[in-house]
This record gives sequence, structure tokens and C-alpha cells, in this order.
Amino acid sequence: MFLLNSAVGNFIKIDGKKYSYFAGNDYLGLANHPDIKKAAIKATKLYGVNFAASRRTTGTSVIHLELEQQLAAFKNNEEAVVFASGYLGNCILLDVLRPKYSAVYVDQQAHSSIIGSIPRNIKTVYFYDHSDPIHLETLLDQNKETNPLIITDGIFALTGEIAPLDKIYALVKKFSGILVVDDAHSTGILGKTGRGTPEYFNLPDDENIYQTETMSKALGSYGGFISGTSGLVDLVREKSATYQASTALPPPIIGASLASLKIVNDNPGLRMHVLEKSKILRDAIATLGFHTNGDGTPIIPILFSDAGKAKKLSVFLEKKRIISPFINYPVKLGKSMIRITVSVNHTSSQTEQLLEVLDQWKKKYGTD
Ligand SMILES: Cc1ncc(COP(=O)(O)O)c(C=O)c1O
Repeated sequence: MFLLNSAVGNFIKIDGKKYSYFAGNDYLGLANHPDIKKAAIKATKLYGVNFAASRRTTGTSVIHLELEQQLAAFKNNEEAVVFASGYLGNCILLDVLRPKYSAVYVDQQAHSSIIGSIPRNIKTVYFYDHSDPIHLETLLDQNKETNPLIITDGIFALTGEIAPLDKIYALVKKFSGILVVDDAHSTGILGKTGRGTPEYFNLPDDENIYQTETMSKALGSYGGFISGTSGLVDLVREKSATYQASTALPPPIIGASLASLKIVNDNPGLRMHVLEKSKILRDAIATLGFHTNGDGTPIIPILFSDAGKAKKLSVFLEKKRIISPFINYPVKLGKSMIRITVSVNHTSSQTEQLLEVLDQWKKKYGTD
């Protein structure tokens, strides 16, 4: 682990030295955007740094409600509710939906916030093979659980793969289940208007599709949210102890989120550009012969079967002043990897340098 000495952007500083940064999740380059920083400062001047109360008691402010309205409009949903983090979104949703399902079917490589949010009182949890609707169907068929809940990441955090949501949704219909998509990495990135994976697959508006989302990645801010019908949002406000008993999102974050949503809404070109850049870089990495995947999101893994190799590559890159972390993380991958992420602000000379260094590595150590 290294200690940042600067804001994150396409470059960062560590120990006062400049590095090219292909890491983190600031896909749209908003985490250090001047308008967003200004909005955070303005909100801080008006409201201080903390409301110091839960939303349920005295912590709800006019700007919370404004942000929730803006998020609902962005998502084309009736209402939205914000809370401390995307991680908590999975706990909150699986908790309030509990009366609607009797068993959980989860992707084997689901994010740890999904696995950690499966309620303890659930009798049966089935892990289907990663992104494999055929295995999911077999499990659904064999077990004949009434009201299954199927949960998956929209974009997988480590490998950047897009879950086959169209096929999964067909199974949700066939088995009268409900679908929960953790779209932490898809919000602002996938779909015509950036609403995430269901929009990307043109799934219909269906009350049985739920999303958990975060403002901490493409939106460059912080905090989780859920949007949907008024009934769903009321359920969160009325039934979720996690929502009710945690301190409200702080003013600078709300100010920042409002400004960032405006930028995302006004500039659809941002997500198109980051996806274009990602595709070009991914194709070039694959052409060099590295093992990656082909889903075209801003997350580009380089996978190795030899556990030590990914770590060594990350160190090699760092020596050339490029940061791209070795992943040693609580998700079942079965392979070791470095995780390259693309920001819309990366310049072509940065990506050329990255490719050049990868080529040097390949010539020395190979790609397996
Ligand atoms: C798939 C996924 N879900 C949820 C989260 C948690 O979001 P947050 O950082 O807003 O708590 C992450 C963050 O790493 C993630 O990758």
C-alpha cells in the first residue's frame, strides 16, 4: 500500500513524486473537479461539516431532499433515498425486501458487500457459477424454492465484466423471483442515460428489479442510494434500522453529489469517451498477449495463473511511475490480477507509456 500525497486524478503524488494513475474508480474524473469542490465548500459554509444526527431524528436537511429528488429524476424513478455508503445499500435492501423472498441465489464472485449482506436468518443460499445463467437455471430448477432472490454485481468490481443481466432477468421471470443488481460500478457509466446495467440491457421497468448504487465511484462523491417506487423508498425509511440509526450524509458530500449529478446529466459524452478509451486500451493490452476480458468497461484486469506474477507486475509498473494495483481482495477469483482502471482524463501519452511498459514486462517475463 502507498500513501497518497495528493488528490486522485490521472496523475497522483506519492512522497512528492508524480505517478500516472490507472487505479481507483474515478472513471469520469469528477473526484477532483473544480465545480464539485466549489459546491462542497459552499455547502460546508452554509451547513457545516456534519448535521450530527440520524435522518430519522434531526438529521434530514433540505439538501438531502433535493439530492434525493435529483437522483430520482436521474434514475427516472418515483423516489430515491441516500445513506452512508454503497456497501450499506446491499444490507439495507436485502433487509427490507426480506418478506418477499425465501432463498438467495448469488454469483460466486459477487462483491463482498453482497455476500456480507445476506441476512443471517435466510435458510438457503445458493452460489451459481460466475456469470453463468445456465448453472443458475439448473439450481433454480433443482431446488424449486418459492420466491427466489437473485443477486449479482452489474459490472464486476475486479474483472470489469458485465453480468449477463438479460439472461438472468429471463430466469427471474420464469421462476417468479426478484432481481437485485449491485450497480456500484455502472451508475453514470452504462446505459443510454447512465442509469446502469438494466438500462444497458434495455430491461423493462419492472418492480421486481432493484438496484443498489453508490455516488463514490463514477459520480466522484460519496454515499449510497436506492431508487424506485415510493413504496420501496418508504420501506427503507420506515423499516431499515441501518438507515434510521446512522448519521445523515454530511453537507459537503451532498453539495458535491448535487454538482456531480448535474455534470453527469449535462455531459453524456463523458461516459461515451471513457468507454471508448477503455475499449482502445483493453484491445491494445489483449493484442500484447495479456489475459484480460472483453466487456469494454473502464475496469481492465490483467490476469495471471501464477500468484506471484501480478504482484511483481504491479511493482514493475510502480518503478516506472505507474500505479495499477495488485489485487488481494476478499472475492473468490482463483487467479491473481492487477486492476487497471481508465479515467476519461487519461491522455494518449499516458496510455502509450503504460502499453510500452507492459510490452517491456512481456519481453522479460511473459504474459502467463
Ligand atoms: C460492487 C460493489 N458494491 C458496493 C461497493 C461499496 O460501495 P461504497 O464504496 O460506496 O461503500 C463497492 C465498492 O468497492 C463495490 O465494488
